[in-house]
This record gives sequence, structure tokens and C-alpha cells, in this order.
Amino acid sequence: MDGILLPKSWNVDLILNDLDQHGFAMIDDAYTAEYVHTLSEECISHLNQFRDAAIQNGVVSNIRSDHILWLNEELNIAQQHIQYLNALSAHLNQAFFLGIQEAEAHFACYNAGEFYALHRDNPQGKNGRMISTVYYLHEDWQSDWGGQLRLQDKNGEWHIIEPKPNRIAIFQSDLLHEVLQAKHQRLSITAWLRSGNSIW
Ligand code: OGA
Ligand code: MN
Repeated sequence: MDGILLPKSWNVDLILNDLDQHGFAMIDDAYTAEYVHTLSEECISHLNQFRDAAIQNGVVSNIRSDHILWLNEELNIAQQHIQYLNALSAHLNQAFFLGIQEAEAHFACYNAGEFYALHRDNPQGKNGRMISTVYYLHEDWQSDWGGQLRLQDKNGEWHIIEPKPNRIAIFQSDLLHEVLQAKHQRLSITAWLRSGNSIW
């Protein structure tokens, strides 16, 4: 984990400081154009395998309408993103003693009209999710296409985060947030950095 160098655009000090002050941080221009392109190709070539995210263990909920595909070893290009997140986790553990041990992740596709209503990723502090990350991998996004991430920071202030291509939003998994209705296809990888136990 320690051996992997983070991309130059990842300013670890800034990320740690923003997480400490606000409970959320952002990385813009996270990867090279070449990586972004191969990653979005990997995602798009698997879209036919995405499933309704609202159906988990046969139970249907109406709080979200996106489609997801859980990442596994075979999704090679996406694995590289997970490796970088693992390297970031080492810094988070050092700074905040989060005890992050693993990442769990899926591709997500919101087609026009789809959304994810207000929720927390770790509502009772019991599921081990410490930090949520969302990487936006569509290659183009216009400001009137909706699909913003709306998030309440740890001080109670609300923020609207555009799903800008090649951006990673990073936030405490216990914070309230939602995905506003998208007007165009919106592609992402959500990854949760998990520990055995939760302290936030
Ligand atoms: C999630 C989520 C936010 C986003 O997947 O749990 O809240 O901006 N995603 O896609
Ligand atoms: Mn969420």
C-alpha cells in the first residue's frame, strides 16, 4: 500500500485538511486523459451487465433509480483506481486513525431522469464504511445536465458538487447527501473505504 505513488494532482495535505475541517474534499483532474479514456471504455463496454441499484437481495426501494455493477478483479482498469484509493487510505489511517482495511466499489450509471434521494452511506455507524468516494468518469458534463451531488458537511452546511469529469468527491460516509436528477447519462465509480469498526 505504501509503495504506490499517488498521481501528482492528488494534494494529500489539502485532502486531509479539507476532510478534517469540513468532512469532505475534492480532487480535480485526478487522472491522465489516457487513463480516463480507457476507464470510461471499460465502464461503457460493461453497461449491459449493470443492474437496478434499487434491488438489493430481492428487495426493491424507491430511493434510487440508478444502475450499478460491482467491481471485481476482472475490471482491470477500474482496479487501478482502487489501488490509488488504497494508497490514499494509508494516509487517512495515519492522519485520522480510521483503521481502513479495504475498498468496496461499484460502477454506477444514472440515465436521464435517474436520481438517488437523500441518504447516508453509513447511517448507524455499523457497516464499516468510513469514507465515501465518487469518481466521475463521463467524458463530458454540461452545467445544465443536473446530476449534482448535494451534500451536508460536518458543520451542517450544504454544498452542491458538479459531477465534473475526472473529479473525485471524498466525504465521511455518515454525512447526508443526494444525487439530483440527471438529464444525461452520468457515469461514476462509488468506492467506500471500510474498516472493521466505525468511529465517526
Ligand atoms: C452513492 C452516492 C453520489 C454521487 O453511490 O452512495 O451517494 O455523486 N453517490 O454519485
Ligand atoms: Mn451515497
